[in-house]
Amino acid sequence: MTRAVTVLGIESSCDDTAAAVVCGAPGDMTVLSSVVFGQSELHADFGGVVPEIAARAHAERLDVSIAGALEQANVSLKDIDAIAATCGPGLIGGVVAGVMTAKGLAVATGKPLYGINHLAGHALTPRLSDGISFPYLMLLVSGGHCQFLLAKGPDDFKRLGGTIDDAPGEAFDKVARLIGLGQPGGPAVEAAARDGNPARFDFPRPLANKPGCDLSFSGLKTAVLRARDGIVDAQSGLMVQDQADLAASFQAAVADSLAGKTRRALAAYLDLAPAQPTLCVAGGVAANMTIRALLETICAEADVAFNAPPLALCTDNAAMIAAAAIEQMPYREPDGMDLSARPRMPLDTKSAAMLGSGKKGAKA
Ligand code: KG4
Ligand code: ZN
Repeated sequence: MTRAVTVLGIESSCDDTAAAVVCGAPGDMTVLSSVVFGQSELHADFGGVVPEIAARAHAERLDVSIAGALEQANVSLKDIDAIAATCGPGLIGGVVAGVMTAKGLAVATGKPLYGINHLAGHALTPRLSDGISFPYLMLLVSGGHCQFLLAKGPDDFKRLGGTIDDAPGEAFDKVARLIGLGQPGGPAVEAAARDGNPARFDFPRPLANKPGCDLSFSGLKTAVLRARDGIVDAQSGLMVQDQADLAASFQAAVADSLAGKTRRALAAYLDLAPAQPTLCVAGGVAANMTIRALLETICAEADVAFNAPPLALCTDNAAMIAAAAIEQMPYREPDGMDLSARPRMPLDTKSAAMLGSGKKGAKA
């Protein structure tokens, strides 16, 4: 039985400055506090995250985030056993700010330092939220990520596939902009789609016939743009019903694409003969009810449990970084002061690198 430890986590790889305190042992952890300062309002005018603005905001807010997390957890630095920080992948200025802060704290307190892969944080979240046993299949779908990962152990991940261009959340955000809806695009498109006809536009399901689990969303976005332009040319503008139909047809195409590749990923996963087969989802897009319902149906058909951690743990946060450190500590040494911040950092180092780099930074 591994000893329970208390870890301070730091996350600053994209547009959320976060700190958290998590206590426990692998597969049995409690979030004592989790502070997240979002930056959406700082980037709202620019149509995407501006790396320089993000880095400055992280540098300004990391100290208050950490102080807040310690205070809310009712602990002081002397009660902390280790300091964990995201060391990649992400926007480099933000990652550097978090890594430097963690190094400073480690030197000042003499506590061990753990650099954590941001994607490992997401992929290990089901261990934090529900103590899910390895091996499980993880579908990570957010504004910056889209990957199927076989989680075999705390530091043993196999990437079965992922997007070769945009992340699905990015596509939702762009489509919302194209059809005149607000940001964040995901919830806006989902709300508009409720009154829409998903069969009005026959949008493509890219890579559907290609073997494997890779996905693509940029062609789909272009198809929505063409359909919109066609309507605008014909009637000099979009009616509310057109918006709803475009949103519903786009959402159906994303859901179908994810569903098709999920079936394939599940087949590869079930070959491992897991004792308690489970599909876990994480990321903002997993909040979409149409996508979620389809994934739940696929799991029920395959006799696989469906697990979706609470949204606050699915989107970027520092509790997942502290939890990943707790999971990995029994298997690895702490990092030294030579720990570097990395814009790209594949979780599965044995598979070929993914292509593409989205608005939320480099994809690993
Ligand atoms: O995981 P997340 O909060 O942040 C990062 O990507 O880091 O994901 C945000 C993304 C945004 O692109 C947002 O539009 C999308 O998730 N999203 C949704 C929904 N809620 C959030 N996409 C589809 N349907 C939703 N209900
Ligand atoms: Zn993330």
